[in-house]
Amino acid sequence: MLDRDFFAQLPEAFRELENSFATLPPWDASVPGAARVSEVLRESARRLGDNYPYFHPLYAGQMLKPPHPLARMVYTLAMWINPNNHALDGGRATSRMEKEAVAELAAMCGFPAHLGHLASGGTMANLEALWVAGRLHPGKKIVASSQAHYTHQRITGVLRIPFAEVACDARGRMDPDALERLLREGDVGCVVATAGSTAAGAVDPLPQIVQLRRRYPFRLHIDAAYGGYFTLAANLAPETRAAFDLLGEADSVVIDPHKHGLQPYGCGAVLFRDPAVGKLYRHDSPYTYFTSSELHLGEISLECSRPGAAAAALWATQRLLPLTREGEFAQGLAACRRAALRLYGKLRHDPAVFAPFEPQLDIVVWAPRGATTTEVSRRSREVFELAAGNGLHLAVAHLPVAFFAGKYPELQVEQERMACLRSVLMKPEHEAWVDRMFEILQKSKA
Ligand SMILES: Cc1ncc(COP(=O)(O)O)c(C=O)c1O
Repeated sequence: MLDRDFFAQLPEAFRELENSFATLPPWDASVPGAARVSEVLRESARRLGDNYPYFHPLYAGQMLKPPHPLARMVYTLAMWINPNNHALDGGRATSRMEKEAVAELAAMCGFPAHLGHLASGGTMANLEALWVAGRLHPGKKIVASSQAHYTHQRITGVLRIPFAEVACDARGRMDPDALERLLREGDVGCVVATAGSTAAGAVDPLPQIVQLRRRYPFRLHIDAAYGGYFTLAANLAPETRAAFDLLGEADSVVIDPHKHGLQPYGCGAVLFRDPAVGKLYRHDSPYTYFTSSELHLGEISLECSRPGAAAAALWATQRLLPLTREGEFAQGLAACRRAALRLYGKLRHDPAVFAPFEPQLDIVVWAPRGATTTEVSRRSREVFELAAGNGLHLAVAHLPVAFFAGKYPELQVEQERMACLRSVLMKPEHEAWVDRMFEILQKSKA
């Protein structure tokens, strides 16, 4: 169940790695507490058991996808070296692996040239993109939709950049007319578009947003932390495809390998279309950049130490599963969307369910029916608990009632937001489990 067969290959890989250091004189490594290691290791395994089964198809709650076994193994292998990708001095091999892996991500986004690096996650990667936007448009606002990830507003607070929210339509996508009203005010420096919102997997209308940029000179940042890899999927609806085809028009893109890219946590990526933004990072580290005039990644990132292991794991995964539209990786994403469409199809025909819109990616938003928003919220929490009791793990989200009210005018609106259910079907195996999930849901509504 937990990839033990794959991990059996790890000792051989360790030997391979050791070969590179075979000429070193033997030495005694001190391992404090060595006598109790196995005891604490087993205790740790028991503690880790206190988790939802994120790796299993019956977990369809938060945005959690098991890393590929190869990514886990290469990460583990790299731990023996523990490289630091701040500088080539601390992480020579893994800095090069990072540059190669990031170049592949940039090519996937359609950037003809790029500058970019990995970060600890989407938040830090977005922070860098918005920091650059703020430096290039000082004193101007950054705007993002009301469904953009909550951290954008927080980041602008940290950076002391004025922020404004753009209204969304009833499916959680940025409303281009509302954006234009803000743009007319003349003080917007950067628009953050979301390609795959956290709540509903909604993709902002990039064709209209890119059009607006012809008339209003703003910087375009696309937060594709969750959705970005879907650009490879062959089964997007035409409107979603049209948006993803414009990723390369952005000035910056954030994409998180630790969401859909099969990586362990600690792996986001920020990509800039114009490598010249690198000059904004210029600093002089007296301690670290000695070994070469080749670019040290610390020269173009806000963070100093960063795990080379994350870069090695990503590099290996992309070598195994290249980021191509026809490849196995892309097929996995298409399977996730098919799973979401299938679950949506079942829920939509269930008279006891509100299922307001077709998923654009692989997130399904729905709720048990009720006369009022209060009742729907209560029933959503009940179904969440009952389903968990029956082995199916969903997520509760507090979403705008506007998502539901247009399609279901009979719903009496008492609050602006209500609790509903959100399922992220981000494992390709979900496709084969939708019927079983639906059966459990039927039991859990009773
Ligand atoms: C669209 C989007 N942006 C940013 C983030 C934040 O990413 P992280 O949790 O990796 O910091 C998320 C997280 O779910 C997200 O969905």
